[in-house]
Amino acid sequence: MSRMMTLVAFLQAQNCSNLPGSWRHPSTMLDFLTPEYYQRIARTLEDGKIQMAFFDDRLALPDLYTGNHAEAVAAGVRAVKMDPSTIMMAMGMATQKLGLGTTYSTTYFEPFHVARVFATMDLMLKGRAAWNIVTSLNSAEARNFGQVEHMEHDARYDRADEFMDVVMGHWNTWEDDALILDKASGRFADPTKVHRLDHVGTHFQSRGPFSVPRSPQGHPVLIQAGQSGRGQAFAAKWAELVFTIYHSLEDGKRQYKAFKDMVAAAGRDPSKVHVAPACYVCVGETESIAQEKRAVIESTARDVDALVLISEVLNYDFGAKPIDEPFSDEELAAFSWHGFRERVIHHSGKKNPTVRDFINVSGRGTVKEHTMFCGNPKQVADQMEEWFTAPACDGFVLAASSMPGAHDDVVRLLVPELQRRGLFHLDYEGPTLRDNLGLAKPRAADWHAARRRAAE
Ligand SMILES: Cc1cc2nc3c(=O)[nH]c(=O)nc-3n(C[C@H](O)[C@H](O)[C@H](O)COP(=O)(O)O)c2cc1C
Repeated sequence: MSRMMTLVAFLQAQNCSNLPGSWRHPSTMLDFLTPEYYQRIARTLEDGKIQMAFFDDRLALPDLYTGNHAEAVAAGVRAVKMDPSTIMMAMGMATQKLGLGTTYSTTYFEPFHVARVFATMDLMLKGRAAWNIVTSLNSAEARNFGQVEHMEHDARYDRADEFMDVVMGHWNTWEDDALILDKASGRFADPTKVHRLDHVGTHFQSRGPFSVPRSPQGHPVLIQAGQSGRGQAFAAKWAELVFTIYHSLEDGKRQYKAFKDMVAAAGRDPSKVHVAPACYVCVGETESIAQEKRAVIESTARDVDALVLISEVLNYDFGAKPIDEPFSDEELAAFSWHGFRERVIHHSGKKNPTVRDFINVSGRGTVKEHTMFCGNPKQVADQMEEWFTAPACDGFVLAASSMPGAHDDVVRLLVPELQRRGLFHLDYEGPTLRDNLGLAKPRAADWHAARRRAAE
C-alpha cells in the first residue's frame, strides 16, 4: 500500500481553539461548556475518517502577562481549561473509530495515576486512546500543584524519562493472555503472567502490580512534541507520533530528516514514528471564498492574544519589557520552552531578540503561528502533497480557526480531494488507533523479554 497521510484534529477543552480569537469568529459556536459541542466535532471528524482528535492542555490560566489573569479572562485568551480526558470520553461515546488523544503532564502528575487513567480510557474506547506526554511550561502551573517555581527544562525531561519507565512498566504488568475467566475452574487470571514493578528511582517509587489489564491495542499510543535537543531525544526514545512546528517547507525537510535519523540512532524503526506539523487549513469552494475566509479569520486577532500566550509558554511577563529592547542572555536562558526560543533566535537572525521579534517570528496567538494552507480544495491539497512527498512530514495536525467550521470545511472539501489523489485512506483500517496509524500492537511478553536482556 502506498504511504498515506495521518490527519489529526487539534482540539482544546476551552473557550477557543488554539487561536484565541477564534471564539470571536462569526461562525464559531459558543456551547463549549457542553458535551454536544465536542460530540458534534467528533462525529464530523469520524465522517471524514480523520485518524485522531487530540486535545492539548495547560494546568493554569495564562496569567503571567501583567502578573495576573485580568487580561486573559477579559479577552477570553484561553481563559477556560477543562480536564480534556473527561471530554475525550464524551467524544468517544459518540463515535466508534475516531482515535482520541489527550495531554497529561509528567511534571505535575504521578505515573501510577496517569497509567491508570489512560489504560482505563483505552479499554473504554476499545483501543482508541493516545497520550500526549508533556513536561508543562510555566510557574502558574507549578503554583496550582503546591510548588513555587516550574522545574528547570532538562530536569523536567529527566523526570519524564523515569516517569515513562514507570508508566510502561505498569502498562506491561498484565501479559496479553493473563486473563483466563474460566467460571468452571474458578481461575480468573494466571498469576505468573501478572508482574509487580517494584520501581525505586530518583523521582518515583511505585510498587504495583498495576490494577488494569491490557487493552485491545496493548497500550495507548504515545505522542510527544518536544523540539529542543533534549525534547527530541526524549521523543526519539518514546514517541509513536510527534507533533512539530515548522517555519517553512525547507525547515521542515531538514528537521524531518534529522529527527528520523535520531529515531534510527535510538534503535527504532523511523517509519513507525509519525511526524505531523501543526497547520491551519483555510479551504473554500473557490480561491476567492477561501481568501475571504482568511480575511475574517485574521480580523479576529487582538494584540493582547500574542502577549498573553507568549508570556504563558516562555514563563516570563512580556508586558514587563519594552518592545524593542533585546533580551539578555540570562533572560533567554530562563525561558521555559527551548524549542520556541531557538526558533525565534534562528529566524530573527538575532542572538538577543526583542519582544517584537518574539511576536513577529513566532506568530503566537495568530494564524501566523502555523503554516496556513489556503485556497480551493485542489490548491490546498497541492500544498499538503508537496510537504508530504518532500518528505517533510507523515501527516498534519489540523489547527482550527473557527469551531466547528474549520473542521467541517476540512471534512467536506479537503478530505475528498486528498482521497481522490490516493493520499488519504478511504476508510478506517480497523477498530483501534494503532490499526489506523499502521502501528503494530505491542506485546507485554516482548517488553518483559527486553527488560530481562537489558538486566543481563
Ligand atoms: C503542536 C504542539 C503541541 C503542544 N501541546 C502542548 C500542550 O498541550 N501542553 C504543554 O504543556 N505543552 C505542549 N507543547 C509543548 C511541548 O510539549 C514541549 O513541552 C515544549 O515543546 C518544550 O519542549 P522543548 O523545549 O523540548 O521544545 C506542544 C508543542 C507543540 C509543537
